[in-house]
Amino acid sequence: MIVGINGQNHDASMSLVDNESILWAAHAERYSRIKNDKHLNTDMIREMYEYGSPKVAVWFEKPFSKSLRKLYSGERPWWCNPKEELKRVGLGHLSLEKVGHHESHAAAGFYTSGFMDAAILVVDAIGEWDTVTMWHGTQYGLNKVWSLKYPDSIGLFYTAFTQYLGLKPNEEEYILMGMAALGKPILVEQLKKDFFNEFGPPFIDLKHNLHKGCRWWETPNYANKFDVAASVQYIMEEYLLGAVKTLKSFISTDNLVFMGGCALNCVANSRLAEESGFKNIWLMPNPGDAGSSIGAVAALERKHLNWHRPYLGTDIRRVLDIEDVVKELIKGNVVAVANGRAEFGPRALGNRSLLCDPRGPDAKARMNALKKREAFRPFAPAILAEQANNYFDMVVPTSPYMQFVMKCREPDLFPGICHYDNTSRVQTVNYADNPNFRAILELWYEKTGCPMLMNTSLNVKGEPLVNSLEDANRWEKLNGVKVF
Ligand SMILES: [Fe+2]
Repeated sequence: MIVGINGQNHDASMSLVDNESILWAAHAERYSRIKNDKHLNTDMIREMYEYGSPKVAVWFEKPFSKSLRKLYSGERPWWCNPKEELKRVGLGHLSLEKVGHHESHAAAGFYTSGFMDAAILVVDAIGEWDTVTMWHGTQYGLNKVWSLKYPDSIGLFYTAFTQYLGLKPNEEEYILMGMAALGKPILVEQLKKDFFNEFGPPFIDLKHNLHKGCRWWETPNYANKFDVAASVQYIMEEYLLGAVKTLKSFISTDNLVFMGGCALNCVANSRLAEESGFKNIWLMPNPGDAGSSIGAVAALERKHLNWHRPYLGTDIRRVLDIEDVVKELIKGNVVAVANGRAEFGPRALGNRSLLCDPRGPDAKARMNALKKREAFRPFAPAILAEQANNYFDMVVPTSPYMQFVMKCREPDLFPGICHYDNTSRVQTVNYADNPNFRAILELWYEKTGCPMLMNTSLNVKGEPLVNSLEDANRWEKLNGVKVF
């Protein structure tokens, strides 16, 4: 039994793996209630022991190499010390292994994909030194075939502009992506001129080290912040498409695995699904650094894991009254669900969710009143899987983890779940994905003829998802909404 660890880094996480089985996986922030918590905590360790006692810990990156890079880039503190982190939470007795940062990403993707042969692209802001890597995954293991090194990094470029737009870097990149739909990509050539010596995906040569941001850059007076977002998003998509096409040209396979923080960009993911030339695409549903706690174990073991579902965290064991949930929904109320094991990954997929009727002009306003978030951001639909094609132009056959956006065919009927460009980040729901959520959707469909619900995370803006029963009770009291 091995525990994989991502620590001393944004989104600390742990995953407990026994042979091919992922027994438990969790984000530190859900226990400490500190958003994007860098550190492990004793509450999560206590819960881990309910699932097993590991003898070995594997760290998700190479601390010495990371320390050198942090020293070089002027980050403080620069010294990474996994032993210290483990000792602090009472795990100092475990024997400690280390694997590479991008190796963890690649392994998390390939060894949960079910593919025996795949081309793998990893893109993030930065690991130790790698910022983009390409791998060939086969039955013989993972072979790195190409890499781009810091400070050249398309992820850092995107993160720098996240900060430039007044958002939190390494956390609110998804808001930049959402803003892009409201602007026009009129600054693409200007940005390329100002920031790139060379732009030939997968190769790029940045003019500036963007680690400390780009606040010095001035938006031309003919553009607004949404145009900046649209242009940055355009460049990211152009880069990723160029990179996967290069990958396709030298690895002969139908299967693409895309990982790293940039694989959270669901707009770009959809373009990769449609335009990359690969028949199949797999993004592990927690593709950023948090998912690397699974990846670290996979990289060490170099064997496929049994990936079933992302419900791997804290278990709230109680009976979910499906009829009562649907009765509340029919009344037009927002319904909170905190039941079963928490999702491992950034999306609430039915076990820590807020649900409501997606029809009518006021659906978004009702949810926004609770969530206290920017009015321009849309909410996502969860739909009976077999109905998805009737309402959305599906770019992938199923989308159980909300990783892709699709054009909604009837945006006027469902304004709450459509963005300004009439796309939706669709979650398809089968019985095997989540029996309780499926039962809610089936009964809702039977009573109303509507096969989808609006589904968003059970939290308020800036807070981690509700995790435990205590969190759920606290949330219920604070917001006056019954949690089922
Ligand atoms: Fe990463």
